[in-house]
Amino acid sequence: MQFKHLQNTELTSSRLIYGCMRIAGDNNLSDRNKGKAAIYAAIEAGYNHFDHADIYGGGECESLFGELLKETPSLRDDMIITSKAGIRPSKGDEEYDPTRYDFSQKYILESVEGSLSRLGIEQLDMFLLHRPDFLMNVHEVAETFAILKASGKVKHFGVSNFKPSQVELLRSVMSMPLVANQVEINIHNVDTLLDGTLDQCQQHKITPIAWCPLGGVAYSAWGNTFDIDDEQRIENELRQQANKYQCQAWQVILAWILLHPSGIFPIIGSTTPERIEAAKIALDLEYSREDWYRLFEARNGETVP
Ligand SMILES: NC(=O)c1ccc[n+]([C@@H]2O[C@H](COP(=O)([O-])OP(=O)(O)OC[C@H]3O[C@@H](n4cnc5c(N)ncnc54)[C@H](OP(=O)(O)O)[C@@H]3O)[C@@H](O)[C@H]2O)c1
Repeated sequence: MQFKHLQNTELTSSRLIYGCMRIAGDNNLSDRNKGKAAIYAAIEAGYNHFDHADIYGGGECESLFGELLKETPSLRDDMIITSKAGIRPSKGDEEYDPTRYDFSQKYILESVEGSLSRLGIEQLDMFLLHRPDFLMNVHEVAETFAILKASGKVKHFGVSNFKPSQVELLRSVMSMPLVANQVEINIHNVDTLLDGTLDQCQQHKITPIAWCPLGGVAYSAWGNTFDIDDEQRIENELRQQANKYQCQAWQVILAWILLHPSGIFPIIGSTTPERIEAAKIALDLEYSREDWYRLFEARNGETVP
């Protein structure tokens, strides 16, 4: 495993983060055991950074992780634990109580308490706002962050799925740095390359973290608009590159993300121990600038001008 300092923090994170969104599965015993085995596989493979959210598995993903930490408390010592909140899920009545985004102080403070309690820990290393709340009052959010910092419940703060203007707005009232923006980056969704997100990350030393890095390759990305010709073209290019680098297509995709100078940390969400381990192969590929552009053009269906 490779490690890298997280800018504006004292933390050193594994270059691949392990994503805990899928670890509880359908929450039956067999899925939970599979999830636990996946976490142990990640630890064994050297991942020290684990990504959560209050809503993953309706809270069951954090609870499962908490169970594991309770079994072996010393594991916590070398771990970076990130969690997110701000998506207030429906309690089952979509019509009268639909899912909403909620950055109100009351909601965020309660959510963080819930995460800490399920995980069985005293402090989150990073807390991220999960998805922009259109009604975000940045002064209220800054105050909430200050309360969480002063109480020792959160070390560092960041955001997720924020556009550059939203990051700028929040930064303008914060007394602490925003240390991360967790965004979707994969071969289908390259918005962050084009909308200034990754430029802003470099400018302000914000760590970009990529969710669903394999979307569009290993499985269909959210909102995938590739047609059959697009898929074929990308697949051909990936096959050639996988052949050249003597690896698998999905590892090429990870190398493609890792090459970006903003220092993107991909989150690996597989629950298959072999894949969790094999993702590290991407870190050692000497992936070239030329191949980066070839794949970019293959996904675009046209050459760069
Ligand atoms: N901030 C946000 O809004 C947000 C949104 C979504 C996710 N996230 C975070 O990002 C993490 C990663 O997301 P993700 O789980 O979508 O990431 P991912 O690593 O891109 O995808 C994992 C999924 O792809 C499958 N997969 C992996 N390699 C494959 C292969 N070679 N062939 C076929 N299927 C393959 C896995 O199946 P197996 O398990 O069977 O290997 C798993 O279902 C999540 O755990 C969560 O922490 C954040």
